[in-house]
Amino acid sequence: MELNKYNLISKNYEKFLDLEYKKKKGIFYTDIELADKIIDFLNLPKDSIILDPCCGMGNFLVAAKNQGYQKIYGADIDKQAISISKKNIDLAKLENIDTLANGADYILNKFKLTESVDVIIGNPPYVPISKDIIIDTSDYLFLRDVKESGSNLFIAALYRAFDLAKENGIISYVIPKNFLHISSYKILRKMILNKKQIVSIVDIGKKFKNVRGEQIIITLRNKFVKDNNISIYEYKNNEIIKKLEVPQNFYKDEILLFGNEEDFSIFKKLEGAYQKFSDICTGYVGRGRSKSDTAITGKDIRKFSFKNVEVPKKGNKVFIQNIYSAEAGIIASFAGELEAAETVTVFTDGDEKMCRYILGFLHSRLCNYYLLKFCFNNSKLTMHTDAKYLKKLPLVKDSKTFLKVISIVKSLEKIDYMSEEWFEMLESLNNLIYKIYDIDENEKNYIDFQMKSIQSKRWTSD
Ligand SMILES: C[S@@+](CC[C@H](N)C(=O)[O-])C[C@H]1O[C@@H](n2cnc3c(N)ncnc32)[C@H](O)[C@@H]1O
Repeated sequence: MELNKYNLISKNYEKFLDLEYKKKKGIFYTDIELADKIIDFLNLPKDSIILDPCCGMGNFLVAAKNQGYQKIYGADIDKQAISISKKNIDLAKLENIDTLANGADYILNKFKLTESVDVIIGNPPYVPISKDIIIDTSDYLFLRDVKESGSNLFIAALYRAFDLAKENGIISYVIPKNFLHISSYKILRKMILNKKQIVSIVDIGKKFKNVRGEQIIITLRNKFVKDNNISIYEYKNNEIIKKLEVPQNFYKDEILLFGNEEDFSIFKKLEGAYQKFSDICTGYVGRGRSKSDTAITGKDIRKFSFKNVEVPKKGNKVFIQNIYSAEAGIIASFAGELEAAETVTVFTDGDEKMCRYILGFLHSRLCNYYLLKFCFNNSKLTMHTDAKYLKKLPLVKDSKTFLKVISIVKSLEKIDYMSEEWFEMLESLNNLIYKIYDIDENEKNYIDFQMKSIQSKRWTSD
């Protein structure tokens, strides 16, 4: 009952704020149910000193208080949020502080804390630093770290947390999921892999209505621990469910959130065993650039052909619809010398045969599984078949099966689109690709099941 009352106060204030202002300041509050789940999940000693440095309405602190924690502290740059928080929780010590611009000593001093805290918790703002959004500090080295690690306020919040928490302390933040894999966050990601213990990562999917992308809860210990296993969880139907453990030292840079042990073992089998798309396809990989009215657009492409244009006989380009949905999978065609607009990803290879071979692989269930799970990091959102993802795909050059794949691709170009025969041919392509990649019967059944449950009925023959 109490939870609802607190939540109502928060929601009213958030509703009253302009959406653009909220986006600019990263003001999207965590609902109390999730905050409650996180506090419960962390299972912290009851005498822990807990600080939320960007506490907003104080939802995390309310949840902590409800679970019996007493040493709770919160700060926010927004004066009004702090004054409402004070009404929400009498117990917590709350201060109106810019915790990104001010150093740990200043912040701890404001709270009259003589040492760093046991736990840093919360959901910091996710806003790219720009001309309008700055961190108002003269601490050059802090700004430099933030800039080199992706220039976002949540990056600054993580760096700040490392100074606010004790060496053995815990940092648990809700942050964007793409922190795990996009290259702009690489420096901080690698620093965390090498210098902190990643206790757990919870995939919470798309949690906030007006916030782009998906989110995770990352929980770190503020020091490195040898031989650590990262526990990976999923938050579904209000429950945090454990999926698997992955040794921290398995990750060298990108952190893939494997859905379960099967995904992890298939990834290990494929990774390293084969060359990458980028090793084999050495031509252009990127968006179409033609502005011509007759240029092929993403919507003109079907699987193995085009809606209104014949598949060319010769040439060296493949066109892929740039928008990728897990329901449809890759949609691509051999394109010879045709021109492509921006909504198309183009790859070229000097060799027409190699183009058709890769085209066959791209449409296989195995390739779509790999792309979705290991290139898009299991994202549920619409993705783009951009070069950076395609280049990671494993490719096999196998003389025995090379011409077989091409012959199936040529048949699929000719047979009536989506006829029974077409689907049968596609299935034989799937099976041939499984064979080429040495995927055994159990793995094949698992991948088939996974992909069929994601794909729309339109794309499954049964
Ligand atoms: C995503 S909201 C989350 C609030 C709260 N932790 C929660 O989960 O409900 C981010 C909060 O960070 C605050 N904030 C933004 N910049 C800040 C700064 N420099 N110092 C302290 N708080 C800041 C915003 O006012 C907002 O309340």
